[in-house]
Amino acid sequence: MTEAVRLADREKEAAREHYNRVAMLYDLVEVLDERTFRPWRQKLLAHAGGRTLEVGVGTGKNFPWYPPGVALTGIDIAEKMLAAARQRARRLGLAVELHLADAQALEFRGGVFDTVVSTFVFCSVPDPVRGLRELGRVVKGEGKILLLEHVAKEPGKPGPLMGMLGSVIARLMGPTITNHLTLEHVLQAGLRIESLEHLGRDHDVKMIVAGPARERPSGG
Ligand SMILES: C[S@@+](CC[C@H](N)C(=O)[O-])C[C@H]1O[C@@H](n2cnc3c(N)ncnc32)[C@H](O)[C@@H]1O
Repeated sequence: MTEAVRLADREKEAAREHYNRVAMLYDLVEVLDERTFRPWRQKLLAHAGGRTLEVGVGTGKNFPWYPPGVALTGIDIAEKMLAAARQRARRLGLAVELHLADAQALEFRGGVFDTVVSTFVFCSVPDPVRGLRELGRVVKGEGKILLLEHVAKEPGKPGPLMGMLGSVIARLMGPTITNHLTLEHVLQAGLRIESLEHLGRDHDVKMIVAGPARERPSGG
């Protein structure tokens, strides 16, 4: 095992431990931000349809906004976030399949989902390009990848909101929160951006509708 792989594994474990630790409080801590995020979630998820995978499903905050008829599977790396998602699904009377899994190594065959969704996840994935490639692998050729993510305003430098979060509640929200998805990651993963919206006062949240790479490795 190379040093880089060991480091990525440690980062992944740190994210898992962190989200397991905060799972009980997660919805409470996010309650104010959620007033802003909710309409964005609604708008993004209106594009979902058919067999759908949500990666980094967390406590299931997107569940209420899926259009009727979506057959939803969710994965997350943290058991306790999944437990909260299970409770939310039960409360909403939704049938959702939930699995413990890593975004960077999905155990699904290639090209099986009509829609793949991920919201506010890739800031805590050690190798976001690898994870985004996985999203591109499991979605159908004509399928959609729906993303909402924080981005750094300048490469390597968090925006004011994330900077403040980073310093004020970093201990609560976790050490990985300042590792932002950039549009370059999406492009490096070979995804085709179909639409892009800049959201929030500082435009530091991006809503991306993408498709998989045109050229995909066969046999996935
Ligand atoms: C900031 S929360 C967002 C949760 C949810 N998507 C939302 O919009 O509220 C990030 C989630 O990603 C999960 N996560 C982090 N790294 C992951 C990985 N490598 N694979 C799968 N899930 C991961 C965390 O456990 C956590 O539930």
